[in-house]
Amino acid sequence: MKTSLYTSLQRKIIGITLVVSFAPLIILAVTMYYQFAKTCKNKTEEQIEYRALAQAESVDLFLKERIAILSAMADTHTFNEMIDEENLSNIFNVMNSRAGAFVDLGVIDSAGMQRVYVGPYNLKGLNYYDQPWFADVMSKGVFLSDVYMGFRKLPHFIIAVRRNENNKSWILRATIDPNILEGIVRQAQIGSTGDAYLLSKEGIFQTNPRFKGLILSQSNLNTSLFGRRVTVVELENNEGRKLLYAGSWLKNSKWLLIINQEPAEMMQSLFAVRNVEITIIVFGFLAIIMTTIFTTHLAVSQLQQSDATMQELNAQLVQSDKLAAIGKMAAGVAHEINNPLNVILQKTGWMEDLLEEEDIKKSENLEEFQTSVQKIEEHVERARKVVHNMLGFARKMEPHLENVDINDTINQTITILENYARTNNIEIQADLSGKLPIIASDQAQLQQVFLNLLTNAIDAIGKEGLVEIKSRRLDSRICISIKDDGPGIPAEKQKNVFDPFFTTKETGKGTGLGLSVSYNIIEKMGGKIRLKSQVGKGTIFTVEVPIVAPERK
Ligand SMILES: Nc1ncnc2c1ncn2[C@@H]1O[C@H](COP(=O)(O)OP(=O)(O)OP(=O)(O)O)[C@@H](O)[C@H]1O
Ligand SMILES: [Mg+2]
Repeated sequence: MKTSLYTSLQRKIIGITLVVSFAPLIILAVTMYYQFAKTCKNKTEEQIEYRALAQAESVDLFLKERIAILSAMADTHTFNEMIDEENLSNIFNVMNSRAGAFVDLGVIDSAGMQRVYVGPYNLKGLNYYDQPWFADVMSKGVFLSDVYMGFRKLPHFIIAVRRNENNKSWILRATIDPNILEGIVRQAQIGSTGDAYLLSKEGIFQTNPRFKGLILSQSNLNTSLFGRRVTVVELENNEGRKLLYAGSWLKNSKWLLIINQEPAEMMQSLFAVRNVEITIIVFGFLAIIMTTIFTTHLAVSQLQQSDATMQELNAQLVQSDKLAAIGKMAAGVAHEINNPLNVILQKTGWMEDLLEEEDIKKSENLEEFQTSVQKIEEHVERARKVVHNMLGFARKMEPHLENVDINDTINQTITILENYARTNNIEIQADLSGKLPIIASDQAQLQQVFLNLLTNAIDAIGKEGLVEIKSRRLDSRICISIKDDGPGIPAEKQKNVFDPFFTTKETGKGTGLGLSVSYNIIEKMGGKIRLKSQVGKGTIFTVEVPIVAPERK
C-alpha cells in the first residue's frame, strides 16, 4: 500500500517534469524548423529566380551581339558590294572570327530572291517571298525567327536585317547555330535534377531540354503562367514530382527561358539542419528522461527514508506517552496498596505466631489455618512484587551514573538466574566481547533490564532449551542481544509486548511490566530496545546502550 503510494508519487513527478520540459522543447524545435524551412524556401526561390534572370540576360546579349554585327555589315556595304560572292565570303569570315555562331549568310533582294549565299547548303536562287518572315523583315527592319526546319530540314533560326539603298530595299540574312545557343542556356543546369531550356510563346522547345522532350516539340508548360519579368512557380511534372520553375522572358519577348529543379535538391542544407536538430532533440530527451528519473528516485527514496524514521519516532513517542501515564497512576496506586500490604503481612506473621500457641495447636483445623496463612503470605508477596515494579515506574528514573562494566553486569545477572535455568534444563551461553569499554551508566538499572529479558527468555522456553547472550561494540554503542529458542512472538503481538501490563502468562505469574520498565530504562539512557521474533524459531531482544565515557577523577 505504502510502496504503491511512493510509486505513484514518483510517476506523477516524472510525468509532470517530462511534460513541462518536453512541451517547450518540442514547440521550440517545431517553430525553429518551420521558420528555417520558410527562410530556406525563400532563399531557394530567390536563387532560382536570380539564375533565370542572369541566364536570360546572357542569351539576350548573345542575340544582341549577332544582330549588331549583322546590322553593321549591312550598313557598311552596298548591295553591289554584297552580291559579289567573294566579298560576301570575306564578310562572313569576319563575322565568324569576330562574333562566331553564324552558319551561313545570304543576300536577298526586294523580290525575295536569294542572290548570293555563303554556307554549307546550296540555297542560292531560292525565293523567300512567300516565307512569312520576309514581309516581317521588310516592314520592321530587324527580324529574329523562332527555331524552324525550313528548306534544309534541320532545326535552326535566322536573323535578318533590311537595308534601304536608292529607294530599293535588300535583306542580309544569317543562320545561327542552335547548338551554341543551347550551350549558353544549358550553363544554367545545376545539380542532378536541374534543367534549363528556351520555349517559344506557344510553348515549343527552342533548345533541347535535358530530360523529357526534344527541340521543336511541344512542352506541356503553360507559358502564360510566367509574367513580365521573372516568375517562380511550383508545379507537378508528368511523373507527379514537385518541381520549382523559374521563367524569365527575353527582352525581345519572343522566348521564355525556363530553369527548373527539384526543391528537395536545393534544400539539402535544410535537411542537414533538420537532422542535426533531431539528433540534438533526441539526446536532449534522453538526458532529460534520465535526469528526471534519477533525481525523482533520489528524492522519493529520501522521502521514504525520512517517513520511516518519523514513523519509528512516532511509535517511540506513543510508547513513552503510555509509560508516562501509567507511571503517574502507578505512583498513587503503589503507595496506597503498599501500606495495607505491609499491615496484612504483619498480621499474618502475628497469626502464625498465634497458631504456635498450645490450645490452638490442638484444634482440628490447625493445618487448614496454617496453609491458609501461608497462601495469604504468598499472595501478599506477589502483590508486593507488582507494587515494587510499579514503583519502579513511578520513581523518577534518572539514571544514577557510575562506572559500569557491561560484561560484569551480564555475568552477575546470569549467576542470579543460573539455578532457575538449570532446574528447567535450560542452558545460558554467554559470548561476550573482550573489547567493551567501561561506560558511565546505572548498573542496577541495566541489571534489571538484563534480568527481565533473560527471565522472559527462560519463561518462554519453559523446559529445555538454549539462551544465548552476546555483547558487541558497534561504533559508539554497545549492543547486547538475548536470543532464545522458545516459541517466538506472533507478529500481531509484537507491538504490544512493551505495553505495561501486557502479559500472556497465567494470572498471578506475570505482571506484564518487565518489558515496559526495561524499555523505559533504556530509553532514558538514550538507548534502544529492539525485538525480532519468528514463531516456532525463537526471539532475539537487542539492547543498544550509548557509550558514554566515564568522568576522569
Ligand atoms: N523471549 C520471549 N519469548 C516469547 N514471548 C516473550 C518473550 N519475552 C516477552 N514475551 C512476551 O511478552 C509478554 C510481556 O513480557 P513482560 O516481561 O513485559 O511481562 P511478563 O514477563 O509477562 O511479566 P513479568 O515480567 O512481570 O514477569 C510476556 O508475557 C510474553 O508473552
Ligand atoms: Mg517478564
